[in-house]
Amino acid sequence: MTARAAIILAAGQGTRMKSPLPKVLHPVGGRAMLDHAIDAAEALGCERIVVVVGAHSPEVRDHVVKRLGEDAIAVQDPPLGTGHAVRAAEAVLGDFVGQVVITYGDVPLLKASDIEPVFASQDGVTVIGFEARDPGAYGRLILEGDSLSAITEAKEASAEVLAITACNSGVMAAPVGLLFELLAEVRNENAKGEYYLTDVVELARKRGAPTRAVFADEDAVMGVNAQAELAQAEALFQKVQRDAFLAAGVTMAAPDTVHFAWDTEVCGGTTIEPFVVFGPGAKIAGGARIRSFSHIEGATVAAGAEVGPYARLRPGAVLSEDVKVGNFVEVKNVTMAKGAKANHLAYLGDGEVGAKANIGAGTIFCNYDGFFKHRTTVGEGAFVGSNSALVAPVSIGAGAMVGSGSVITRDVAPGDLALGRGEQTSKAGWAARFIETMRAKKAARK
Ligand code: UD1
Ligand code: CA
Repeated sequence: MTARAAIILAAGQGTRMKSPLPKVLHPVGGRAMLDHAIDAAEALGCERIVVVVGAHSPEVRDHVVKRLGEDAIAVQDPPLGTGHAVRAAEAVLGDFVGQVVITYGDVPLLKASDIEPVFASQDGVTVIGFEARDPGAYGRLILEGDSLSAITEAKEASAEVLAITACNSGVMAAPVGLLFELLAEVRNENAKGEYYLTDVVELARKRGAPTRAVFADEDAVMGVNAQAELAQAEALFQKVQRDAFLAAGVTMAAPDTVHFAWDTEVCGGTTIEPFVVFGPGAKIAGGARIRSFSHIEGATVAAGAEVGPYARLRPGAVLSEDVKVGNFVEVKNVTMAKGAKANHLAYLGDGEVGAKANIGAGTIFCNYDGFFKHRTTVGEGAFVGSNSALVAPVSIGAGAMVGSGSVITRDVAPGDLALGRGEQTSKAGWAARFIETMRAKKAARK
């Protein structure tokens, strides 16, 4: 395979998002749009990936450096158009030889498989086009058969050209040498006063280099400019995820109410009730049951486990087979061994719960002392009575019991009963005498 590189444009200001977060860092399926673009470039086998960032958003730069390193950054300052943006990557690509594809940080649904056809011919300029339902401001593809003679921006187009529905997605590929030679010839004498990337098509033609268009689905190439489009991209993303999980044998009575993240793994044979939300990093084995209104992120759930309704699993929650985590239970960074139960109203943070242990309603793992986090261990078959506070670091031995309402600050040995609460006293007949006295007082006031 010819070597491949990707140039991802992300230098636009994104002002129409009206958000302090840079546009390309807004998430779709719980992952920044820019990361979706980088994922696609990686999946295409691009050995070099360069992201063109603006001088106005250090956050975007930091995000890229963290994932790909300093040599993936090209800065475009000031932004003078898409052609100018691509040129900003020339020096960074250095002596790279091969095909270059140009993609965008704000086109989150475009997958490697949608882009792959742009590499089918490698002797000229190839553009990904689409049939637009509403061509609006898109550049129009001037086609002669399957050869592309030019791309005309809407602002420069005649009424006749505006009637064309074949539009430019913006994605383009060409051999690196040809691409930068052509870009050096692009001028900015046009309606926007910008250096248009799209001008390279006509310039390639003039030298007799082949220019072609391949077509993708309109939904796949959609770009995000405003919040409404971000929501639309999210809806399209969710639809794809839901359909894939249904096809894989996941039972969902109301799939439209279930939200998945980009990396959610759910095996066939799982049941997901209505209104469940997955954040990133969730893995659910077949045969688990996720009940309504649960929120699951960074957690692993084994077969036969039941979660919710109204449960929250946070990063590091590992539920083994047949575990039950019921309503208003939060689990974070805790492994629950086979058959362990926390059925109601509990916080389990940083620790371990042994097989078949039972965590009573209202139990809290007090994991944080205001400075450090500490671990709580509950042994196999232990029973923690309702409304207990286990003050970490602490361990409850296998088969031990904790009396309800206890505050446990010291380890409990296996098989022991621990009581950490005020001792009960009773006063014989006190309540009956009190009631009689008070009734008499009230009667005297009438
Ligand atoms: C561009 C195409 C148009 C195509 C459309 C698809 C050109 C001249 N036109 O138009 O044919 O139909 O995309 O959406 O290429 N960007 C930079 N630096 C710049 C300018 C833009 O990084 O100086 C980035 C933006 O962040 C954005 C992308 O390039 O992600 C597209 O730029 P935009 O100005 O929105 O181009 P359009 O006018 O939409
Ligand atoms: Ca645009």
